[in-house]
Amino acid sequence: MKIFHTVEEVVQWRTQELRETRFRETIGFVPTMGCLHSGHASLISQSVKENTYTVVSIFVNPSQFAPTEDLDNYPRTLPNDIKLLESLKVDVLFAPNAHVMYPQGIPLDVEEQKGPFVTVLGLSEKLEGKTRPNFFRGVATVVTKLFNIVMADVAYFGQKDIQQFIVLQCMVDELFVNTRLHMMPIVRNSNGLALSSRNKYLCPNSLKISENLYCGLKAAENAIRSLVPGASLSRSEVIDIVTQIWAPYIDSHDFKVDYVSLADFKTLVELPAVENTSVQQPLVISCAVYVTDREKPNTIVRLIDNIVI
Ligand code: PAJ
Repeated sequence: MKIFHTVEEVVQWRTQELRETRFRETIGFVPTMGCLHSGHASLISQSVKENTYTVVSIFVNPSQFAPTEDLDNYPRTLPNDIKLLESLKVDVLFAPNAHVMYPQGIPLDVEEQKGPFVTVLGLSEKLEGKTRPNFFRGVATVVTKLFNIVMADVAYFGQKDIQQFIVLQCMVDELFVNTRLHMMPIVRNSNGLALSSRNKYLCPNSLKISENLYCGLKAAENAIRSLVPGASLSRSEVIDIVTQIWAPYIDSHDFKVDYVSLADFKTLVELPAVENTSVQQPLVISCAVYVTDREKPNTIVRLIDNIVI
């Protein structure tokens, strides 16, 4: 008889037993909300390459939308998504309705919700969590449900939503979830704009302006990477480099900055300063900006982007 005292030992034994006996195959999983683009496709292709089977889910998850957000208008393009998934040789698409995922219903008002929810305290309140207080509770809850259904070996997420990845990594580690996470790089257009389903809301002119998100972050990255040993930049100096690039658009009211953050990659704790990269722990410069559409001034889209250094 084997006697184990740590979770790791049990999990390792279980995985090995399953592998050696019945399952020589692995399952890769890519959770999405649909309206698939090349960013999603890069995650899916990686899964297809690395696993015997790939499962993709499409579910616009109500619990991660606030009552004021765009749940009803979130772009839904299922027939096109199915064509793309078939061309990428995905084995299974899981496209449940809200009743399947939330048998007790899922009102957007948190006070009225019933049933189990997963919260990752300490990380969920930062950055995105400041403007979207229940967002990561919704994400962690739906991803837990999906993980329990699919029981994948590995799940693929994009760096595009870096805080989502960090929150989910903490959830997986500390709830001892038996699915590994893999973070994939951000897919951008040729001018650096990170692909996003919400880019669909913006006219070509406003998309051009949105390309400045990346230009600002990139300028800060360049400044950090050119620090000589012993030199440092303060937090406000880094943030100034970013916002100077954005100044013309901030002045013309196209851009409203929600936040620019300079934080530790693992803990998301804000850094007072940054040093030469040979001594500096990995960090993430991230931002969220409201872009007002030039053709439809009532359309305001919140875009996020980041660079890991
Ligand atoms: P969604 O926004 O559809 O994104 C699904 C996955 O695609 C996420 O891991 C996201 O980071 C990744 N992704 C989006 N744009 C990308 C880009 N330009 N480059 C690389 N990867 C990109 O994120 C969600 O859905 C939901 O919160 C979900 C995890 C499905 C839970 O509901």
